[in-house]
Amino acid sequence: MRKNIVAGNWKMNKNLQEGVELAKAVCGKTIANNVTVILCTPFIHLSEVSKAITNKSVFLGAQNCADKVSGAYTGEVSAEMIKSTGATYVILGHSERRAYYHETNNLLAEKTKLVLANGLTPIFCIGEVLEERESGKHFEIVKKQLTESLFELSADDFSKLVIAYEPVWAIGTGKTASPEQAQEIHKVIRDHIASKYGKTVADNTSILYGGSCNAANAKQLFANPDVDGGLIGGASLKADDFITIANSF
Ligand code: PGA
Repeated sequence: MRKNIVAGNWKMNKNLQEGVELAKAVCGKTIANNVTVILCTPFIHLSEVSKAITNKSVFLGAQNCADKVSGAYTGEVSAEMIKSTGATYVILGHSERRAYYHETNNLLAEKTKLVLANGLTPIFCIGEVLEERESGKHFEIVKKQLTESLFELSADDFSKLVIAYEPVWAIGTGKTASPEQAQEIHKVIRDHIASKYGKTVADNTSILYGGSCNAANAKQLFANPDVDGGLIGGASLKADDFITIANSF
């Protein structure tokens, strides 16, 4: 069966020492045994945070990776390098990467293959912008993102993925999707996966919600049958809030 997952996306926050402290604080909390917790840190934090993780429920992830294997790509970090730090997850296709660094569905298909080839688990982000929701295109947008980036994968590879639905209008805005809106589109996403890979693969895929998910609203969001956890930005920077979210199932 699919896992409950709460992943923290630290984005470009916390210096190395602060990041290690945050990881230690998270690991020091009591975490329910029905959830997998993931800390997605900046690249330079990975190897130190890896050593600071002492809780068997807590795993490490990166926020991006290169679309090339290795070589003359100044400033890039490969999936193999990420793997060598002890990380096991990689966020791909976050809306900030799509918007500010022009990542396309095709480019993300390449990154996904490299992440999988290194035995890492992609946390693959999809979601519509406000204008797309207001014009009723949100279902089409998320289906297109899935199809163009992921539907060339074998069923075996697809079943290794975690999907994160993040409406762009809810990210960092304090404006959360309602539990009903989240359930509605998560079901559309799961049905779309089932149409390609069948019901068993779809039922076993964890689909996380992201976008202003916090300690006050996580319980209601996670209570929905097709919401299997959250990708948490702002609220992942405080250990207490983050663990309250993780313990919300
Ligand atoms: P937020 O960010 O929780 O701060 O809205 C979520 C995300 O971008 O993953």
